Amino acid sequence: MVVCCCYNSTVVISDMALQISARVSHVRTLLCTAGSLSGGVRGDFLQKAGVKLKHFLTRGSPQQQVGGTPVKSPVRGYMSAATRADRLSASTATAALRRFSQANGSPSLPRGGTGWLGKFALGAALGVGTAALVRSLHTGIITAMSVKSNLDSAEGNWKETKDFLLSLPVEDRRRYYRTSGSVSLDDLPVWTPTAGRSEPIRYQRNEKLDLKISVFSGDITKLEIDAIVNAANKTLLGGGGVDGAIHRAAGPLLKKECASLHGCETGEAKITCGYGLPAKYVIHTVGPIAQGGVGETERNALRSCYRNSLQAAADNAARSVAFPCISTGIYGYPPEQAVHEALAAVREFLDVHHDKLDRVIFCVFLPTDKELYLQNLPLYFPADPAEAAIKSKL
Ligand code: APR
Repeated sequence: MVVCCCYNSTVVISDMALQISARVSHVRTLLCTAGSLSGGVRGDFLQKAGVKLKHFLTRGSPQQQVGGTPVKSPVRGYMSAATRADRLSASTATAALRRFSQANGSPSLPRGGTGWLGKFALGAALGVGTAALVRSLHTGIITAMSVKSNLDSAEGNWKETKDFLLSLPVEDRRRYYRTSGSVSLDDLPVWTPTAGRSEPIRYQRNEKLDLKISVFSGDITKLEIDAIVNAANKTLLGGGGVDGAIHRAAGPLLKKECASLHGCETGEAKITCGYGLPAKYVIHTVGPIAQGGVGETERNALRSCYRNSLQAAADNAARSVAFPCISTGIYGYPPEQAVHEALAAVREFLDVHHDKLDRVIFCVFLPTDKELYLQNLPLYFPADPAEAAIKSKL
């Protein structure tokens, strides 16, 4: 019986190491059958085989012990024996996998097939040596497990973890979220323009841009999108409010990467990995402190936060971005004034760079903010094609 149990991030593989190769040849048969199937059917088959493989790999069960004590994974020992027997190194297997996927193209891969599981499945289909498959299987499990434990520990290597997470398709990244209840982009309705307020609308109607706008009422750390914006402070080392929420959800590696950025000036924006968040990236920006009132300096600084955050997203191919109501909490910027700087900055960025972004989401945490955005959006993303006195942005 092949049981792989993960306990406190220690992979305990009991009583089955040698049988992995038996299972692997079973999987190989399964997948080599796939080789004889046509594209679409094969894709289905690999998907099922991939799910099956994933299932038996991660089937949960209480920690198994041999002789009453947890055994460390004996796989490494068996692997080197099997590798010697097969005289196949992982690099040979990888080269073969690369040839296979080039020859066959990735569409027939199970979704997320570029991850270690996909490579493993491909290897079995290729007839890659058992040892190399066991090695990729073992590496895959250990990689997955070590990243999982890394995300909870300040001792983890943020650079390696960041590279690993950013290399994954969203389906594979999901197993590393540190919180539950994520909300995907498809769950967010787009803005449907409504008749504006009595004030004259300020921008022309652009239906393509309307489709790029959403209002989300809730916790920004739940959004499974390319980037969420953090209303940070100049140290970038965390704080209260949305900054605290984002750091808590992302885990301690976020602070480690932020520390490497050496702070951020008001109005500027810097990007990091999202780590344990459903968002791939976090864009940190520092809003103006407006307790003493709002002047030209504060208005320009707040617009810069939105503009520079969108630019950072565009520079990193992050096509969906969510903003909290920057500076309207601890920094004291009056929300009824901040909403205009936010909407104007986003509208003017999209007028020029509409091809760089698919969605900009205004995340409103307070009911009063939701009301403010729904009231003012029609001024910036109007319903009527009426001639608009375009603000002097030219
Ligand atoms: N999701 C979305 N929005 C949130 C969340 C959340 N989980 N938590 C708070 N908010 C909202 C607040 O309701 C407010 O509308 O974020 C907005 C910004 O409030 P703050 O977080 O207080 O940010 P800001 O006013 O820009 O002050 C920044 O506060 O947290 C510290 O380190 C931060 O020093 C910096 C200062």
